This record gives sequence, C-alpha cells and structure tokens, in this order.
Amino acid sequence: MTNQKEIEKRRTFGIIAHPDAGKTTLTEKLLLFGGAIQTAGAVKSNKIKKTATSDFMEIEKQRGISVATSVMAFDYRGKHINILDTPGHKDFAEDTYRTLTAVDSVILVIDNASGVESQTEKLMEVCRMRNTPVIVFINKMDRYGKDAFDVLDEIEQKLGIGVRPLAWPIGMGDDFKGVYNMYKHELSLFDANKTNISEELVKFNDLSDPALDEIIGEKAARELREEVELVDGVYDPFNQEDYLSGKIAPVFFGSAVNNFGVRELLEAFVEISPSPRGRDTDAGFVEPNDPKFSGFVFKIHANLDPNHRDRIAFLRIVSGKFERNTFYKHIRNNKKMKFANPTSFMAQEKSIVDEAYPGDVIGLYDSSNFKIGDTLTEGKDFNFVGIPSFSPEFFQELRNDDPMKSKQLEKGIRQLMDEGVAQMFIQEPGSRKIVGTVGQLQFEVILYRLLHEYGAKCSFTPMNYHKACWITSDKPEEIEKFMRAKVGSIAKDKDENYVFLAETSFLLEMAERDYPEITFHKTSEFK
Ligand code: G4P
Repeated sequence: MTNQKEIEKRRTFGIIAHPDAGKTTLTEKLLLFGGAIQTAGAVKSNKIKKTATSDFMEIEKQRGISVATSVMAFDYRGKHINILDTPGHKDFAEDTYRTLTAVDSVILVIDNASGVESQTEKLMEVCRMRNTPVIVFINKMDRYGKDAFDVLDEIEQKLGIGVRPLAWPIGMGDDFKGVYNMYKHELSLFDANKTNISEELVKFNDLSDPALDEIIGEKAARELREEVELVDGVYDPFNQEDYLSGKIAPVFFGSAVNNFGVRELLEAFVEISPSPRGRDTDAGFVEPNDPKFSGFVFKIHANLDPNHRDRIAFLRIVSGKFERNTFYKHIRNNKKMKFANPTSFMAQEKSIVDEAYPGDVIGLYDSSNFKIGDTLTEGKDFNFVGIPSFSPEFFQELRNDDPMKSKQLEKGIRQLMDEGVAQMFIQEPGSRKIVGTVGQLQFEVILYRLLHEYGAKCSFTPMNYHKACWITSDKPEEIEKFMRAKVGSIAKDKDENYVFLAETSFLLEMAERDYPEITFHKTSEFK
C-alpha cells in the first residue's frame, strides 16, 4: 500500500474534558465499537481520585496506567484510529498540553449539568492556539442538566469557538427520550443501561411526519420540531471547512455510560475529522506525504520496572514511513539511531511494529537519549517547533539532603526534567535549584522518584513566586538594565535562557509596564 493510502486511513485524536465529565467512559465505549475491547470496565480511569498528595501508591498507579492507556488504537469502517490519552488531573495539565501537539483533532466532552468548567477552558486555549478541529459531545443527558441552548451559548462565550449542533436531544434526565440526528435525519431512541451497542433507529426525512408523535409522544414531538427549527434558524448550516479550520465545533448529545449517542459521534468523526496533518519545523512546513520519514517526541515515560532504567519516548510520525532497525538521525544529538523494538499500542496491548505511518504514535525504548521536543528524521536536518513549555506556577527550592549522592541527584533531576515532569531554574549566586511546576502534586512525584529511582534524598522549601516568564528583547541593553534592577528575581532555565521570577501578578504587570521593550513570555518552546 502506498503511503498516501495509509495516511488517508489514519485519524489521530485526543479526548479532552474537565475531570468527571466522562472522558474515560467515552473512550471505553469508542473502543467497544471498534472491537478493540470486548467488555466494559476494561479501560481503567487514570485519574487520581484522592487529592491526598502523599498517596505515593496512587501516583505510581497513575504512572503505570497512563503508560498502558497512552495510546489506544482501533479500526473502524476502514479507518485506523489512534486515541491519545490526555490526563484529566490538573497537576498533569502540561502533559496534556504537549499531547495535544501530537493530535490532529479533539473530541471535547462536557458534562450537561456542569457546562463549561475551568479545565475545559484551559485545554481549549491550547486547541485554539493550534486551530485544532474540535467536536463537542455533551454527556450525561440521562441526568437533569442545563438547557441545551444555554450550554451551546456557554461554549461559544467561554471557549471562543462557534458551534453547530448536528444532533439534538429530546428531553433530559428521566424524560430523556433520545437524540435526533440532524445530519442524517435519524431518530435514535434511548434505552437506559443498554449493555449491547445497537440502537433503535428510525429514519425521518420530515419531522412533521405524525409518526413522530406516536413514537416519542405529542409534547416531546412538538418541542423537538420547534427546537430543530430554532437551531436551523440560529446556526449556519454545517460547513466542514469551518470545522477543519477550528472555527466551528459540531455538537452531539448523549450519555456515554449508557452507550447512547456514541455511535452517531463516532460515525460523524470518521466522516469529517482530518487525516494526519503536517507540522511546522524551523526549516518550513513538513507535509505528511513527504516521502522521507520524520517525527517528534511529545512525551517520555519512565518505565515502571525499577530493575530497568528504561524509558519510553512517544514519537508522533509526521511524514514518510518509519521502519524498524533502520537508522534515523536524532537531530539534537547529531547522532544516528536505530530501534530494534519500536512499540505500537493496539488498545491496551503493546506489540513490536515493523513499520508505522504519519499519524501513528510509536513507543521507543531509550535510556536517556530523548528529551521532549526531539526530532528524528531520515533526510534533511530540521527541528519540529511548537511543543510548548508553560510558565510554571508553583515553585520550590530543591535541597540535597545527602551530599554523598550528588551525582545521582544531578542525573535524576536531568532525566526528570527531560521527561517534562517539571522545569528547573538555576539562580546565582550559589546555583540555587528552583523547581517550577504547573501543579503541587509534581513535587511529591519528584521527591518520590528521586529517592526510589536514583537513591537521592532531597527536600523542598516552598518559594513565593507567582510566575516564571522568559524574557527577550531586540535591545540587549534593556535586558541588562532589567537584570541589574531585578537581580534577586532572575534565573536561568536549562537552556541558559533568562527568566524573570515574579513574586506577584502586580509585580509582573509593573515590570511589563516599566520595560515596554522587553517581552515577558508565558510559554517557551521546549528546546
Ligand atoms: P473522566 O474520565 O472524564 O474523569 O470521567 P469518567 O468517565 O470516569 O466518568 C465520571 C463519572 O461519571 C463516573 O461515575 C461515570 O460512570 C459517570 N458517567 C459517565 N458518563 C455518564 C453518563 O452518560 N451519565 C451518567 N449519569 N453518568 C455518567 P463515578 O461514580 O465517578 O465512577 P464509577 O464508579 O461509576 O466508574
């Protein structure tokens, strides 16, 4: 098969949601449809239910499960679908943001009762930065929640994206009768707690058909007719181009736990979602049908087996064909590498792959060669760009409690930073190690892993900083002036870039006002 056919077959996406909206449940139902799993309950939720940060076992479990569910692939209607898992816990948000650089589209799950929640807003910001196409699934229609029009308005206002319902719910909670698929003119009738995956479908080309009143009752039929008319009046007809450019999100309604509305979602997804897209590099755009292989690492996972210090680097293939035991160039290290055991992920099973195509994600076993953002290529030298590192919001100074283990500590810290667990800043004088994270939980993870994987005993002292911003300017003298004035608040990141550690948002605003020639960056490229 030619590369082009393989590319067209693939769909690589992520499911994003505020915790508890139903991401795990929906993932599982999609895998059931794809035949990748046979029984419900096979996909373990990887969320940390307790917020007790000292629960190390929970953290370890989280890490273990998230390797198993990092990528779940299945085939459906001739398409090879890769679901990339995105941790819902906000302390792992950075992991999720980076995973979003490796998908071509997303499905956003919203809880019908809660509407748009804080985590959803953050995740959608990342999608909008990249114009990622989004399909919305409004879940838990079997419960009483917000009015459908209100949820749609909330999405438009809070998430800054237009919507176009392609299905419409008939009632909700105990009165939830089903969903009318406006795209296919089909009515699906709801039957709670259905364990199989078939649905009762009735075709309606014309909603004025009196049979509708018989099936769902007069009142519900009247409301459905009115609401569908309103939807068609308020929203422009669905246009696939607007979806693909990230302007308009088609919306579906259902109940994931009851396996309802999931088929409609999957059918539409297969029909409208984009095949693998190219990516930007520092030497121009690379198209998927470029015959030379290229890909980038967006996630690194330490292996759970303490006897093997191996890690798995997750590589998204952007162009060409990846082949096992073939030399490719690791651009940052300027080194040729080949891989004997590249792994693919079919649902929860890992297996060795001989070849992989654009859109696929493979796991590369590695001791310490890879960092997040690394590029592998077959041809020219270039680096993929756009894998962000976000300005951390929690800071603690790392102290070595066992001077005999300094080497282990250095190695451990370097590897954890390569994995993107946190960011480290060095402050002079005295080479103070300041660790910055997006969530408190990361500090527990770092101490635990340094001790158990590297034998280095450390402790943290909290520091009162609000944000770390990278500073750049076209005028070097401005940077010098700023650094002289703020000498106690300047540090360097791992690539020797200067960052300003602002103690409060007020001080950051003041600095931005007083030094207009300096740009204070909230994200940096992971390079
Ligand atoms: P997440 O991955 O987005 O965090 O959510 P998850 O799928 O784990 O779902 C969160 C809770 O919502 C689960 O209940 C799940 O059963 C429930 N849920 C998912 N879809 C629906 C739906 O369509 N309707 C209703 N009523 N509930 C739904 P839980 O009690 O937290 O966990 P569990 O013990 O039932 O698994």
